[in-house]
Amino acid sequence: MKTIHHTLAAATLLGALAITPRAHAADACKVEISGNDMMQFDKQSLAVPATCKDITVTLHHTGKLAKDVMGHDWVLVSTPDVAAVASAGIGAGIANTYIQPGDKRVLAHTSIIGGGETTSVTFPTAALKAGGSYSYLCTFPGHSALMHGTFKIG
Ligand code: CO
Repeated sequence: MKTIHHTLAAATLLGALAITPRAHAADACKVEISGNDMMQFDKQSLAVPATCKDITVTLHHTGKLAKDVMGHDWVLVSTPDVAAVASAGIGAGIANTYIQPGDKRVLAHTSIIGGGETTSVTFPTAALKAGGSYSYLCTFPGHSALMHGTFKIG
């Protein structure tokens, strides 16, 4: 029995060492995504480890059109809330980045940007559950049907 315990302890220690490098872990907590003039995100999903304390999402607009024509933002919600949050945001206007003020279904969001611009948002993972079902969308009116994806933590 003693031998087995030692083996397990060694395996646990090796496992801990394997995920120790903190610089690498920190990088994994920062993800990037782009939107273009074709009303598309370049990624259908984003994933971050549950070990992240904070997550930073950087959104690039690689197109040329202005934000009042082809604006993009990055908005995180629980997956079942995608359609309702997009719908509620239409009337909020661009000054509110097409998000209904005080909408508690919105877990994190960037500002809305036009071609050539970049924006980012940093938020704590504490509000999210590992393995939960989350999605991101662009709340510019009419965009979420094409501009959405799954956000995985865990
Ligand atoms: Co958009």
